[in-house]
Amino acid sequence: MTTALCPGSFDPPTSGHMDVIDRALGLFDRVVVAVIDNPSKTAMFTAAERAGFFKEIYGERLDVTTFGGLLVDHVRAMGADLVVKGLRTGGDHEYETQMAQMNRHLSGVETLFIPTRPDLAYISSSLVKEVARLGGSVSGLVPDVVEKALKERLS
Ligand code: PNS
Repeated sequence: MTTALCPGSFDPPTSGHMDVIDRALGLFDRVVVAVIDNPSKTAMFTAAERAGFFKEIYGERLDVTTFGGLLVDHVRAMGADLVVKGLRTGGDHEYETQMAQMNRHLSGVETLFIPTRPDLAYISSSLVKEVARLGGSVSGLVPDVVEKALKERLS
């Protein structure tokens, strides 16, 4: 049985994140979503709220957790075999490769990259928040529950 752990800030989760998680669900026996809880970073949604989006969307199909501290410690605590991350652009590749190499150095854990669907590659949580704050439509860029929560948060 292979368990993949999908970590991220997910503030908020986007359609790109969901695509990567859907594909991980098709590849691995068990998927754990790990939402970082970083009190020093100002987020629009609390870690519990971000985790709640995944619970609402996926129900029992995956495990949803929050974590602080080192990712590799959480990977071990969850009994996960590998980390899965999506890659959108060359910038992502540079940043994610460095983190993957650091995590492998720290604990031997491997990171598998799933290339984002090209039609979703321009979506980022920060751009979604900017568009929403400025009154633009984020329909299709995020799951419906997130779109609703963004509207409520910004009203
Ligand atoms: O959605 P993001 O911003 O790409 O997620 C980044 C995340 C949460 C995966 C990354 O910041 C992380 O792993 N943080 C935990 C701290 C850590 O383990 N740092 C050292 C290894 S790179």
